[in-house]
Formats: sequence, structure tokens, C-alpha cells
Amino acid sequence: MTDHQTQPYAGPERVFSGVQPTGALHLGNYLGALKKFVALQEDHECLYCVVDLHAITVNPDPATLAQQTREIAAAYLACGLDPEKSIVFAQSSVPAHTELTWYLNCVSRMGWMERMTQFKDKAGKDAQRASVGLFDYPVLMAADILAYKATHVPVGDDQKQHLELTRDIADKFNRDFDTPNFFPLPEPLIKGPGARIMSLKDGTKKMSKSDPSDLSRINLIDDADAIVKKFKKAKTDVLGDMPETEAGLKDRPEVDNLVGIYAALAGTDKQAVLTEYGGKGFGTFKPALADLAVAHLSPITTRMRNYLDDRGEIDRVLKDGAARADTIARPIMDDVRKIIGFWRS
Ligand code: TYM
Repeated sequence: MTDHQTQPYAGPERVFSGVQPTGALHLGNYLGALKKFVALQEDHECLYCVVDLHAITVNPDPATLAQQTREIAAAYLACGLDPEKSIVFAQSSVPAHTELTWYLNCVSRMGWMERMTQFKDKAGKDAQRASVGLFDYPVLMAADILAYKATHVPVGDDQKQHLELTRDIADKFNRDFDTPNFFPLPEPLIKGPGARIMSLKDGTKKMSKSDPSDLSRINLIDDADAIVKKFKKAKTDVLGDMPETEAGLKDRPEVDNLVGIYAALAGTDKQAVLTEYGGKGFGTFKPALADLAVAHLSPITTRMRNYLDDRGEIDRVLKDGAARADTIARPIMDDVRKIIGFWRS
């Protein structure tokens, strides 16, 4: 039997990630994903996708999908993605994603899929009524990554299980077809204080687009007044001032979250924040945090509005990105078809 994956993958390093066009982006998306995307483009080949095929797994809305796709592309550019350096495109415009999903469906195992916690969360109590697409969502995600043989995937902590599954699927394909190292086993890039940003109203719940309370999140399109107000109203606790060490954040999820947000925005770690603010009250810390967030997000918000006024430019970026992405995926898909053994004349 061939010795699988004992050699390191020999292909080029390539970064892939995606964001769903399902509503306004928030600070969690920015710190967990987009901020990392921008840093990586300086020294990596990067593909950043607006995952519109994923968006239709729940309540598709033909009237808004294209515009929401443009909005995520505008956010990418406003956060600093340079379309000359990074490939920015819409998932549905490159056929490899759907085609590879089918092949990977035939490699993936029901037992693996049934363990996916995000499906259970999103399907809710009545899983029987969820779309098959929602169940298959993680395989489409694996196809996104593997269609380009991406080696690194920057995401927030909530995508960890999906990336473990992607590695399992890639490994199974390589084994089933006896093609060791054909697909890389992609590395998740998750670490850092921004990986898990929690709700401003409940430090045990993830900051999320779907939370009914707008006060639970900072949206990328919030203006300065809204950001200041939301941090002012952010939940803390009655356990006293800011702790001086990270150990003091234990059992204080809301404070831990605010310190993590500050650290991620400032590009430092939690301990550095506590060294500066330990022993001080929230009346001092919260306005400083709000100022930092406004300084960081205001230019992004302004740029995003400008991009959204220039639909032609966004469409040009997405079209050019789709052509470049397709050029990478095509020869990989040719190889995949040969490996599987399809008839060709
Ligand atoms: P999506 O659109 O839900 O979220 C986009 C990115 O934001 C991160 N994120 C967070 N990070 C920190 N704290 C939070 N509260 C928070 N909320 C969201 C997510 O982890 C994600 O990185 N399935 C993916 C999209 C996707 C994808 C891919 C990602 C499709 N195909 C291939 C990587 C590779 C998703 O739903 O992201």
C-alpha cells in the first residue's frame, strides 16, 4: 500500500477564504477574517470569494442576492484588499465549485456530515425541513478550497470544524484514488484575539448577523455615534474594575470579549491591553475602546460607501477575479476528472 501524505505537499502556497452575502458584515467578520485577508495578500497568492452558492442554502432571495454580493465585494476592497494582488470574485461565476462539490460528495461520509454542529444550529429543531444544500454546505466549502489546492484558510473560530472536515475529505480523496498529496490538507489560520468575537450583550454568544438585537454587534456600516453608543451599552459585570492579568478574565466573558476586541483592533494581545488598563474602571476603558474602533472602522465605512456608489468598478473587479480564479481551477479540475476516470473521447 502506498504511504500516504508522509511527504510534505509540494505545490505552491495559496490562500483561500470566503464570506457569505447574507446581510451586513460586523466586527466579528472583520477581526476574525477580513483583517487577516488583507495582511496575507502582502506575501501570498490569495483568492477571496463571495460565497453566493452558500447563501442560497437558506431563504434565497433573487431580488437582493446580486446586490448583497456587490456589498461584500465592496467591503473586501474597503478593508484594503487590492484587486491587483488578491483575486476577488463570486463563487457562482466559477463552475469548478459546484462540479467538485459533487465529486467530493461521493467521497464524504454521512457520519462525518452528521457531526457538523453548524448544521444542527442552523437547521434548528426541525432538521427534516432543512434544505439538502444546508446539510451539504461543508462539502461545498471543501470544494471551494480544494478547487484551487489552497494550502491556508484564514477564518474565525466558528469555521474550525468545517476545516477539519475539509482536511478529512482531501485525505480521503487522495487515499481512495491512490494519489497521495494530490490535494493539500489545508491549514486553518485561526489564532489571535479576533478569532472569536462575542455578542456585546452576552459574552457567551458569538457576535452574529442573525442576532435580533442590533446592540449585540458593531456593523461595518455603523457610524461613529452608533459605535460609541453600542460600546457604552455593552454588558459588563459587577466584579469590579479591569483585571491586571489574563487570569483575572476567567469567568468574566463580557470583559474578556471587550479586551479581546481592543487587542485585535490594536494588533496586540490581551495581556498588553490589561497592562495598560488593569485597575481602571469601564468608564475609562469603554470610551478608549470606542475611540479605537471608530478610528479603525470610519475610513472603512467611508470607502465602502464610495465603492457602493461605483457599481461599475465592483463589477469589473468581480469579472476580472472570476476569470483569474477560473484559470487556476481549470487544470486542477482536468486532473480531478482524469483521476476519477471519466470517459473522454
Ligand atoms: P461567514 O460569512 O459566516 O463569516 C465570514 C467570516 O467571518 C468569521 N466570523 C467571525 N470571526 C470571529 N468572531 C465572530 N463572531 C465571527 N462571525 C463570523 C467566520 O469564521 C468567517 O471566517 N462558511 C463560511 C464561508 C465560506 C468559507 C469557504 C470560508 C464558504 N466557503 C471556504 C473559508 C473557506 C461562512 O459562513 O462565513
